[in-house]
Amino acid sequence: YWCYLPMDQRATGGPMGAPLTVLGLESSCDDTAAAVVRVDGTGEAEILSSVVFGQAELHSAFGGVVPEIAARAHAEKLDICVEEALKRADLRLSGVDAIAVTAGPGLIGGGLSGGMCAKGLAAGAGLPLVGVNHLAGHALTPRLTDRVEYPYLMLLVSGGHCQLLIVRGAQDFSRLGGTIDDAPGEAFDKVARLLGLPQPGGPSVEREAAKGDVGRFRFPRPLLDRPGCDMSFSGLKTAVLRARDQIVAEKGGLTRADRADLCAGFQAAVADVLAEKTRRALEVYAEEAGAAPVLAVAGGVAANAAIRGKLETVSAEFETKFVAPPLRLCTDNAAMIAYAGAELFAAGIRDDMTLAARPRWPLDGASPAMLGSGKKGAKA
Ligand code: KG4
Ligand code: ZN
Repeated sequence: YWCYLPMDQRATGGPMGAPLTVLGLESSCDDTAAAVVRVDGTGEAEILSSVVFGQAELHSAFGGVVPEIAARAHAEKLDICVEEALKRADLRLSGVDAIAVTAGPGLIGGGLSGGMCAKGLAAGAGLPLVGVNHLAGHALTPRLTDRVEYPYLMLLVSGGHCQLLIVRGAQDFSRLGGTIDDAPGEAFDKVARLLGLPQPGGPSVEREAAKGDVGRFRFPRPLLDRPGCDMSFSGLKTAVLRARDQIVAEKGGLTRADRADLCAGFQAAVADVLAEKTRRALEVYAEEAGAAPVLAVAGGVAANAAIRGKLETVSAEFETKFVAPPLRLCTDNAAMIAYAGAELFAAGIRDDMTLAARPRWPLDGASPAMLGSGKKGAKA
């Protein structure tokens, strides 16, 4: 149990080998999570356990994630999450083949907490360690849930991320575009705040939008006039703010109907932008897609029915299958990290005690760096 076997004496399992059981840790943002995933010789994956400890209440008074509070909470909760994940999987560490941990991109304090915990477990139990890119975890989730084959097109839309990727392998991504400012979930949250609706903003704006008149406000569709797949959502949020202020100036306040109409107009603009940029990405992807093309989505915003509906329509136009993993696996979790770790491990990837957390870690090293950072840290 305590002996530290050299890596080359360990059986590598996973696709085409023996079953591989990986413990995954996630702490790059405001969720502390641990999970155990087993991948059998054919590539079929099973989530043996997935524990997520959200920090929302700790940060709610501050209107955003406070990095120091997040790091401390991760350090406190990680080992509890690991114990719980092992217990629910009915395993001890000796039954695990490798430890996977998110090593970025994200808040550096969270990355450090996760890295220290994972290194301690790996050194103590003599297990190999694999550092995983958080975005790769999201991007590979359709393989975990639906066994989607490479290459597929991925739209990542959450409170912290927004990118369109061609996924060709566990370490082979092409970024076709992404937001140049806010992530769409961030825009939903800001619009909710400026209309006095509860957080998280996505579900409350969607609820209001369903009662609204989508034709009353025609908000801009930023960057649609420019070629390519880049997006922008910050101007759209400002347009909602201006429309709100104009109504308040004219009538002294907002009625329920005003609020609903503003939400409907905003949501339609976001949906149009995401659909059109995805259409362009599908055109690029079509050139290399095989016989069974797939568009997959991940991230909290993918829960929005209006947005999902538009994306389904676009993928049908391209005779492309639409895959949306269940929401609990679309939002931050450690099962995706364990699964990505399993794919990397099966490909022979190992890290050692020098593994360092990276606040920025683009999936596609060839694409230009994203500037700025969201409410949840660096964007990529
Ligand atoms: O993936 P997620 O749980 O966390 C990260 O950002 O990593 O995404 C949360 C984001 C929030 O900004 C939330 O407002 C948004 O997803 N969201 C939605 C909906 N549900 C959650 N946005 C639009 N419509 C929804 N129904
Ligand atoms: Zn995430």
